[in-house]
Amino acid sequence: MKIAIMGAMVEEIEPLLKFLGDYETIKVAGNTYYKATYKDLELIIAYSKIGKVFASLTASTMIEKFGAEKLLFSGVAGAINPKLKIGDLIAATSLCQHDLDITAFGHPFGYVPEGKVFIQSDKTLLGIAKEVASDLDRELLEGIIATGDQFVADESRKNWISDTFGADALEMEGASVAVVCDALEVPFFILRAISDSADMDAGFSFEEFLETSAKESADFVICMLDKLATK
Ligand code: ADE
Repeated sequence: MKIAIMGAMVEEIEPLLKFLGDYETIKVAGNTYYKATYKDLELIIAYSKIGKVFASLTASTMIEKFGAEKLLFSGVAGAINPKLKIGDLIAATSLCQHDLDITAFGHPFGYVPEGKVFIQSDKTLLGIAKEVASDLDRELLEGIIATGDQFVADESRKNWISDTFGADALEMEGASVAVVCDALEVPFFILRAISDSADMDAGFSFEEFLETSAKESADFVICMLDKLATK
């Protein structure tokens, strides 16, 4: 099986590349893609660069050019749900775009005609994640992730995203990857470890915890690969 693993920043995929050790490097459309094998899995790994546009390009490339049959995203997020602390894991049950706004035409936030406000993650991959969490005796929150082309470091914006979408965490790529995978009918899974609380201290917190939280997420994804390989 061919599996794509993507992050947005180099820190989010570095732990995976270190773990695998051996990989081939291929350049496509200004990005580097890493091809590797793990057990009976063929892996294609990349970081997209930050934001929805780059993430869409990378997800599309992984599927259309490299033939990925499933896509796993690993990275960090800002917490909305107060249960989520630094380093905690959240798996998206569904994702939405908090900065998509054509409300001027009577549509709800996050909606464009022929689209959906919420895109559901693949239930089988969520099930595998739950198995891994149980094996590791690791808490895994399942919830809504809101995506936008903004680093949120503002309590009132964060509260608006919470009230409008019922989101538990926010980041800058997940929903765009979900839109691509949904359209191309590729099962996807978005995992994030918390790096900050999207409040006025978010910038400092993000810089302090990016690397350690990114590793928490990547290590969990590696355990998911073990399950996928034996299936
Ligand atoms: N990713 C991690 N923290 C974030 C934040 N506060 N806003 C947007 N994306 C993030």
